[in-house]
Amino acid sequence: SARSTHSCTARAHSNIALIKYWGKRDDRLKLPAVGSISITLDALYSDTRVSFFPGAAQDSVDIGGRKTDPAPFTAFLDLVRARAGIDYRARVESWNNFPTGAGLASSASGFAALALAATRAAGLDLDARELSILARQGSGSAARSLFGGFVEMHRGTRDDGSDAFAEPMLDAAEWPLDIVVAITDRAPKTVNSSTGMSGLADRSDYYNAWVSHADGDLDAMRESIAARDFETVGALAEMSCLKLHGLMMSTRPGLIYWNPATVAAMQAVRALRSDGVPVYFTIDAGPQVKAICPPEHTATVEQALAGVPGVLDTRRSALGPAAYVLD
Ligand code: PMV
Repeated sequence: SARSTHSCTARAHSNIALIKYWGKRDDRLKLPAVGSISITLDALYSDTRVSFFPGAAQDSVDIGGRKTDPAPFTAFLDLVRARAGIDYRARVESWNNFPTGAGLASSASGFAALALAATRAAGLDLDARELSILARQGSGSAARSLFGGFVEMHRGTRDDGSDAFAEPMLDAAEWPLDIVVAITDRAPKTVNSSTGMSGLADRSDYYNAWVSHADGDLDAMRESIAARDFETVGALAEMSCLKLHGLMMSTRPGLIYWNPATVAAMQAVRALRSDGVPVYFTIDAGPQVKAICPPEHTATVEQALAGVPGVLDTRRSALGPAAYVLD
């Protein structure tokens, strides 16, 4: 029917990188300067409905029931329209089951869900790689949220971005791990990741070192995931996180995403470790701390983080599935 070709709702789960992406080798195509490896989270997701309307004058975008400036989404929808050969405007309605724009990767799940819903609504049926390349142009980390479990994003070397896509490494069920998110601030962050990383190359003395060590970090992470070596995966993830924040802090002007509770939660994770609990932290462009542990330790980790002064709330998650169409 006309309805089924012109509307689609999709769900994509959020992801967090174990080896971080920061910096672009091309701003327009959002080509990453480094590859990355992430895990997809079951408990945090975006549902996005796209309906193309013949005759509508402009795109409209609602996130969590609130009207949002459609400009960044129009640029993305134009890629879909060009590919499908249609000129209809879209109504986009998106809903996150977690706080938006606060370092919980809402741009990753949101753009992944939008890429899947918009292409299907436009009558396209892209394969996983093409969809990942498209989602990357919404937000770099969104290329990873199309897949479940452990995911690798390739930096690529081509100028057209045709080899800068993500692909699955291991399904969630192949190595169950849990994540406990310690929320230390519910407000949207002041400097989003796109703004934070643009023009970075000339703005941190550490940037060249960051880029030149990335391949070695990715190799080490790939190997330790294949070996299911949790201690090495965790240690590499913590190191990549701290390197990322060192890079952010060394950018001019320096970006500081942490608050006192962020630091206290990091120290709580290390204190658990010295008591014999296998748990490691990671942090993105925001103040929330994400602790990773084998499922038998999740209750202990959640209880410890909930007791850290300044931690407002905790969320726990298992590893999640690939993005899918809801109707
Ligand atoms: O692609 P963006 O704009 O969501 O940037 C992602 C940046 C980090 O979350 C800090 C790192 C990462 O690899 O997810």
